[in-house]
Amino acid sequence: MSQDENDNSKLWGGRFSESTDAFVERFTASVNFDKRLYRYDIEGSIAHARMLAKVGVLSDAEYAQISSGLEAIQSDIESDKFKWDVGLEDVHMNIEAALTQRIGDVGKKLHTGRSRNDQVATDIRLYVRAEIDKVTAQIDELQAALLDVAEREAETILPGFTHLQTAQPVSFGHHMLAWFEMLDRDYQRLLDCRKRVNLSPLGAAALAGTTFPIDRNYTAELLGFDAPTANSLDSVSDRDFAIELAAAASLIMTHLSRFSEELVLWTSAQFDFIELPDRFCTGSSIMPQKKNPDVPELIRGKSGRVTGHLVSLLTLMKSQPLAYNKDNQEDKEPLFDLLDTLKDCLYAYSNMMPALVCKRENMRSATLKGFATATDLADYLVKKGVAFRDAHEVVGSAVAAAIAANKDLAELSLSELQDFHDDIAEDVFGVLTLEGSLNARDHLGGTAPRQVRTAIAQAREKLQRR
Ligand code: ARG
Repeated sequence: MSQDENDNSKLWGGRFSESTDAFVERFTASVNFDKRLYRYDIEGSIAHARMLAKVGVLSDAEYAQISSGLEAIQSDIESDKFKWDVGLEDVHMNIEAALTQRIGDVGKKLHTGRSRNDQVATDIRLYVRAEIDKVTAQIDELQAALLDVAEREAETILPGFTHLQTAQPVSFGHHMLAWFEMLDRDYQRLLDCRKRVNLSPLGAAALAGTTFPIDRNYTAELLGFDAPTANSLDSVSDRDFAIELAAAASLIMTHLSRFSEELVLWTSAQFDFIELPDRFCTGSSIMPQKKNPDVPELIRGKSGRVTGHLVSLLTLMKSQPLAYNKDNQEDKEPLFDLLDTLKDCLYAYSNMMPALVCKRENMRSATLKGFATATDLADYLVKKGVAFRDAHEVVGSAVAAAIAANKDLAELSLSELQDFHDDIAEDVFGVLTLEGSLNARDHLGGTAPRQVRTAIAQAREKLQRR
């Protein structure tokens, strides 16, 4: 192809003698998905230009033209007037080309002393930082909603399970507080991740830095970063922060998936512990009686999708030599999708939880079924001087007898109970009740409603201090 046939519309077209293959143009372009970074791209460019003016590489007038040009482009994008061009590959070159078209040759000076490599790293960090702030606010909201349910249901008793077998009675409020704790760790993890996100790679340029007298501290400060990153090669190649976020997000989704599994079980006719609001359920096209917990089911399913994105990102990075490689362009779709998914799921939970209805009577009768107070009987004997291992054995035989008689332990008569141990007296019935069992676990982290209320008050203070 002759030089004439080169359309030369590319910002990097100078050394090329033929136009890009149409397939390659489509294959290498990222604008269809990275255009959503426009706001961060413009913010980064304005900071970069302002720094160039500060150090004397641009004049103040040139900076003023560049920044108002970029602001005008931003409002064009936001009012849907901007024409994105796949031929211009990505968000960065689309905006730069539009700037030159709008303000003339001064626009061509914007890219002085930087590269798309440090530019894109800056954009993603700004984006991830903003998203972390949204997600932490959502977690905070969900935690507050859980505390409200916990408070309302502090005295509600449901069977606590281990191995999904009835274990011991617990307060529903206590159960909600367990979810609260899981989310609390998620919140802390995001804050910790944010520290490593909030560093400025700008100035690393392509990989080795630049020959211009740039001021990296200044751009870092303008963009609200805590500091510039330390090494130019690492700056353009590092996506650890995205992987850390994806790991934190996967764990949040794992938690939401576990919550969802419980909601799904609890809404089934076999458990029938709770009712979810109709607006969060759907029906069946064939079975008229059905009210399906689709939202929790989907959240459970979407946990796989988010964890998949974590694996994509890890795999994307694992064989990359320093420094920037085009592979990195593949970081965006998983990152965007995992954050969109996570925000939707947290939104669903914050809206579902306040409307959750506990079927207290059903929970209670289920708790009365599985010998949930057997440990209390063993503890009772221990307090009368029996060694725990012996007490365990005695209660085991009592349970076997009760199963044979199709009764709960509390339904055995005193003399029947005394057949198993002489030390059993009338006061045993106090420990065999569900309330007795619950109230007896009255220590830090225990399920006694009194402890649950203290834990709720402390959790509320914690949210307040954030
Ligand atoms: N679209 C690219 C990405 O997302 C921008 C950086 C491209 N840099 C380059 N030298 N090709 O990673």
